[in-house]
Formats: sequence, structure tokens, C-alpha cells
Amino acid sequence: MRVLFIGDIVGSPGRQIVQHRLADIVAQRQIDLVIANGENSASGFGITPRLAQELLNMGIDVLTGGNHSWDRREILEYMPHESRLLRPANFPDGNPGSGLYVGTAKNSVKYAVLNLQGRVFMASIDDPFRKADSELAKIPADVAFVFVDMHAETTSEKLAMGWYLDGRVTAVVGTHTHVTTADQHVLPEGTAFITDVGMTGPHGGVIGMDRQGIIRKFLDGLPARFEVASGDVQMNCVLIETADEAPRNAAGRLRARSIERLRFCID
Ligand SMILES: [Fe+2]
Ligand SMILES: [Fe+2]
Repeated sequence: MRVLFIGDIVGSPGRQIVQHRLADIVAQRQIDLVIANGENSASGFGITPRLAQELLNMGIDVLTGGNHSWDRREILEYMPHESRLLRPANFPDGNPGSGLYVGTAKNSVKYAVLNLQGRVFMASIDDPFRKADSELAKIPADVAFVFVDMHAETTSEKLAMGWYLDGRVTAVVGTHTHVTTADQHVLPEGTAFITDVGMTGPHGGVIGMDRQGIIRKFLDGLPARFEVASGDVQMNCVLIETADEAPRNAAGRLRARSIERLRFCID
């Protein structure tokens, strides 16, 4: 089984490169399932119902979120009606939406996607480690592929989650920093891991936003409105391939055979 994960989609440049490239990537690389982080798809801040639908229509099967999941007020009402749009599971119980989705991929394999958020240098929400335990316990036994998007600021919290879940899920990938790390590998018990996938959007600014506004903010510290950057639009992804013939992991899920970083640019 081959699964593509697309790093944080930022603004219209991010959405456009996905629209432009995804169908070919899926066809050429025989992808069975596409997951993407969409927390920055609305001008860098949040996601709207229309944009969620637009991204799902492009061929993304499940959208994950993060600290920006709540930025657009209209998404709160929409979330309970679109189970394929996730937000981190460890926000307080009772918040709209869910952090876990269970579905069936194109190749008829049942899969689950779990979205978590770190707490170091981020909002002090519930413990993502214990939340991972309780959410994973809800996944039916016949689900073969389990994917975790760990949306967090620090490298240490993401790697700790990778080790914590090694042998219990097929992949743990980090998002949020928008900067790709070069540490993709498969952990000893078969869980694919990368600290951060990087982002899908313009790299001519500072993590997706116009550099002049960000530099000014560092200089004067005054409240500022940031615009999406332009230039050097990239689509940063990972491709996870499962070891279908290998024995399942301790939790009965597929092991990863490999995790590969992919970067696509506008021609
Ligand atoms: Fe992001
Ligand atoms: Fe984020």
C-alpha cells in the first residue's frame, strides 16, 4: 500500500500546486490514499468549508489540522458534518469535530488517521500521549493502516511521539514548523517517522508568509496582519510504503517498508 501525505497547505499558492500536480502524482506513483494537512489553506490561517470541499475534491481523502484549525469561525459548524476534516484530538472534549477518522482506501484496505497536537511552546491542551492511547484503542481490529499527524513545534516532542507509538501505528509524521527535516526513517518496530514534512506553498517568505511583514514584526513587536508570501512554490510530501507481506506489528497493523521525502515545484 502506498500513502501520500502532503505537508501544511498554505494559501492559494499551496492549493494551486496541489490542484496542478496531485492527480499526476497519484497516477504515476500508484498512490492508494492521500492525506494532507490543511490548517493554513485559507490565506495562511485556518480553513473554510468551501476550501475543505475544494481540497477533498482534488483527491485528498482526509484533511488534518492543527493550532490554526479554529481560525475561521464558519468551520466550527461545518466540522461535525465533514468527518474527513480532522482537528487535533487532544483539544478539550466537546470541541466541534474529531481527531480520528476511519475509512476504506481505494485498494479496499481499511485505514485510520489520527491528528494530535504537541504542547511544548504551544497551547496547553490535553496530553497528546495519553490521548493517543485512548484514541488508538477506539480503532477497530480490522483497520490495517494507521497514520498519525503529530502537529508540534519541537523536534523532541515529535520524535518522542514516534518512539511512543513505534510498533502500534504504521506512520507518525510531524507537521507545523513548515520546514522539512531530513530524518525520515522506519523505526525498529515498523513505524515510519519524520520530524517535519515541511509545507506546501510559497517558500519566498517566512514559513509561508510575506517576509517584509514578518521582519517588521521582529523589529517593532507591534501587532501586524500577515499576508501569504509569493515565489518558490513547493509541494512537500512524504510517500509511505507498507510492508504488506511482513508480519503485522504488535497492534495488528501494517508495518512501513519505507518513507521517502518528495518535493514538487512549479515548473
Ligand atoms: Fe501549518
Ligand atoms: Fe500549525
